[in-house]
Amino acid sequence: MKQRGTRLAMVAGFSLLAASTLMAEETDIQGLYKKKCAMCHKADGKGYAAMKTPDFTSKDWQASRTDEQLIETTTKGKAPMPEFGKQLKPEEIKALITDVVRKFVE
Ligand code: HEC
Repeated sequence: MKQRGTRLAMVAGFSLLAASTLMAEETDIQGLYKKKCAMCHKADGKGYAAMKTPDFTSKDWQASRTDEQLIETTTKGKAPMPEFGKQLKPEEIKALITDVVRKFVE
């Protein structure tokens, strides 16, 4: 019984460590874009014609949509873009739009 308690404490400590490492990664929003979005939207946000990804550097494209719309499509997905609401937190999606996607425009 006593041994089991120690093991449990170790497992709890490890999960806490894993959770804080994860959180440190998640605050790196540029890194998150590179990891989850750049393969389709390109590191510079211009997209790939063959994939029909929008050009995030275009002022006209940026002006054609509100933050709410972009957050909604990213959360719910728009084929072939996956539904990111299942893998990312709402704050992460919001930050990807306001701090990364919106910042590509010259
Ligand atoms: C598998 C490829 C793929 C990945 C990965 C991907 N996207 Fe997309 N994304 C697309 C495509 C294709 C479109 C254009 C969809 C359309 O308009 O039909 C798009 C459209 C968008 C739009 C415009 C939505 C709108 O309302 O027009 C935003 C914003 C966006 N993506 C953000 C992201 C973000 C942020 C990530 C990373 C979390 C991401 N995408 C990852 C393929 C992808």
